[in-house]
Amino acid sequence: MNSDTRVYLNGEFLPLGEARIPVMDRGFLFGDSIYEVIPAYGGRLFRLQQHLQRLENSLHAIQMENPLSQPEWESMLATLTTQYQGEDQSVYLQVTRGVAPSRDHAIPEGVTPTLFAIATPFPAIDPQVYERGIAAITLDDIRWRFCNIKATTLLPNVLLRQEAKERGAMEAILIRDGLAMEGAASNLFIVDDGQIITPPKGEHLLPGVTRDLLLELAAEAEIPYCEAPVRAEQLDSADEIWLTSSTREIMPVTRLDDRPINNGQPGELWQKLFDRFQAYKEELR
Ligand SMILES: Cc1ncc(COP(=O)(O)O)c(C=O)c1O
Repeated sequence: MNSDTRVYLNGEFLPLGEARIPVMDRGFLFGDSIYEVIPAYGGRLFRLQQHLQRLENSLHAIQMENPLSQPEWESMLATLTTQYQGEDQSVYLQVTRGVAPSRDHAIPEGVTPTLFAIATPFPAIDPQVYERGIAAITLDDIRWRFCNIKATTLLPNVLLRQEAKERGAMEAILIRDGLAMEGAASNLFIVDDGQIITPPKGEHLLPGVTRDLLLELAAEAEIPYCEAPVRAEQLDSADEIWLTSSTREIMPVTRLDDRPINNGQPGELWQKLFDRFQAYKEELR
């Protein structure tokens, strides 16, 4: 990605180096904005309807109308992704409340939302992630209460991820009131006695698009699963732990808080669902 990369800003496609937003934008001043990250495999947007539905839900939750219709989103995103025709990429899009005349917390009337989107080629996932798995640590969930909204106010997630990084881990698994909710930027799955368990949707976690797909794939493969609270202690005794996201797919956790999970190896069920996930992606290419 360089400054000539073409991005979308408020109805125009222009070079990244020329994209500017005013300092009075409420996304900048208050984090008054929401976002989405949509992968595109071979240039084809993956689970687009599900991402656009979550975008709609996030907008509704912060009392904003969707500034574009479904066909308008589709057409804008299609134009953006043709830049890297046929390549795997991810699209970041953000909608802010817009630019207001003064800095006032209360929601102003009659402002025009700011829309920004950028496509970036997908960096190939390091094969070691799948050969050896990743390390994760558990941390106190310091985020706010509406984690189901894909809001850009990500300072807690930034600090949590940084702590994980400084402790040699790739992700933090967040614990609230004794329950493991999700990763700082991923959803959580454990395998316990042959059954996949993932925490149920609610205000304390993001309804991940990859999470839902994984449950569909588990159902197709007739692997038992349930959506149920995961107690922090269940992580210690889990046979397998996985973390999922649109950009990192399904990551097997093989070290948690410096203890091995599944003898430090990606597990059998992870391999099964990983293979199904890759096959599903290939069908869409
Ligand atoms: C907090 C959080 N949970 C879960 C996810 C996974 O969501 P998805 O699979 O839709 O990318 C993300 C993605 O960035 C996230 O930030």
